[in-house]
Amino acid sequence: MNHLQTGIEKITDIKVDSTVFDEAGEIIRKGGLVAFPTETVYGLGANGFDADACAKIYEAKGRPSDNPLILHVADRAMIDKAATVTEMAERVLAAFAPGPVTVILPKRDEVPSSVTGGLTTVGVRMPDNDIARALIRAAGVPIAAPSANRSGRPSPTTAAAVFADMDGKIPLILDGGPCRFGVESTIVDCTGERAAILRPGAVTREMLAEVLGELAPPPVVGEKDAPLAPGMKYTHYAPLAPLTLISASRKKKYEAFCAAVREATEKGKRPGVIVSRELAEELATLVPARHIAVYGDAGDVPAMAANLYESLRYFDDVDVDVLFADTIEEKGLGVAVMNRLKKAAGGRMLFID
Ligand code: TXA
Ligand code: MG
Repeated sequence: MNHLQTGIEKITDIKVDSTVFDEAGEIIRKGGLVAFPTETVYGLGANGFDADACAKIYEAKGRPSDNPLILHVADRAMIDKAATVTEMAERVLAAFAPGPVTVILPKRDEVPSSVTGGLTTVGVRMPDNDIARALIRAAGVPIAAPSANRSGRPSPTTAAAVFADMDGKIPLILDGGPCRFGVESTIVDCTGERAAILRPGAVTREMLAEVLGELAPPPVVGEKDAPLAPGMKYTHYAPLAPLTLISASRKKKYEAFCAAVREATEKGKRPGVIVSRELAEELATLVPARHIAVYGDAGDVPAMAANLYESLRYFDDVDVDVLFADTIEEKGLGVAVMNRLKKAAGGRMLFID
């Protein structure tokens, strides 16, 4: 499956471009892979009932095969083909589907165990993206899809980022423009007594608590990096240059970045920074413009989420040796953003106060 010609189809209107979906649906049905946009990140899809097709996903990503895949469905009825929907999941789906949430459910026998990494449970999600759901409908089966990056790389939030990682490995990428949220779905285990968040995302703990009441407590400090979703134990989201996070109050931020940049430069290393527009302006005299990635205005958490992975990937082709990134408060969507940033940084964080 190497050396395929990888096509990119820009989709402007799912009705106008309906022949593309006929083609894409056929690729999936015949056991091939299609990358597609969702509201979170781009997915790398295969027929979720076809173990051989799903094996191609692991091969294209270079992903360990014990790391389970999420099944994507077009509507509520399709979930019944793959899983037993618990009462708890029913409430989550009623409130947030289609949307950036994955529910973990007892799997049905039709789902190959290679899709679930041998687990008896399966993750199911209904993406809030017309292109994704049109593809699933055209295929007529749930689509198993991880994020469409090479294993260990930042998730792709644009078709160009998918192409950078998957060129020659898959036949088709559906281009739906940049993803709205930019961080992967919230994963909620709905198989136990109380719902547990296995991975934070845009559907926040507070939002889930409103429909579920009390949730299982978040992992306590110290256990924070314990793998909950099996895939979370692997190195994730890493940029090519090592990343360090800088945690400082608004007042001390500028000084903290200056110090980090100066120290790196003295050691002969070229630093890059991922910062707010305001901080970028302050650092302009110290750091060349192409060594600065701006995620948005200071405190704009949705913008930081949406631009995080592109900011990391921006530095793939820029001559930097070390990276420093701004941090935000861990509440609401900020929990998901900081979770991904900490993983990208492999835990390296400077605290300045
Ligand atoms: O937003 C998303 O969820 C994106 C888009 C493409 O839908 N997908 C995504 O897939 O992030 P992936 O494969 O990169 O991450 C799936 C995570 C992994 O950490 C995996 O271990 C976990 O979900 N997972 C899948 N099935 C599971 C299960 N049965 N129990 C616990 N964790 C599971
Ligand atoms: Mg992923």
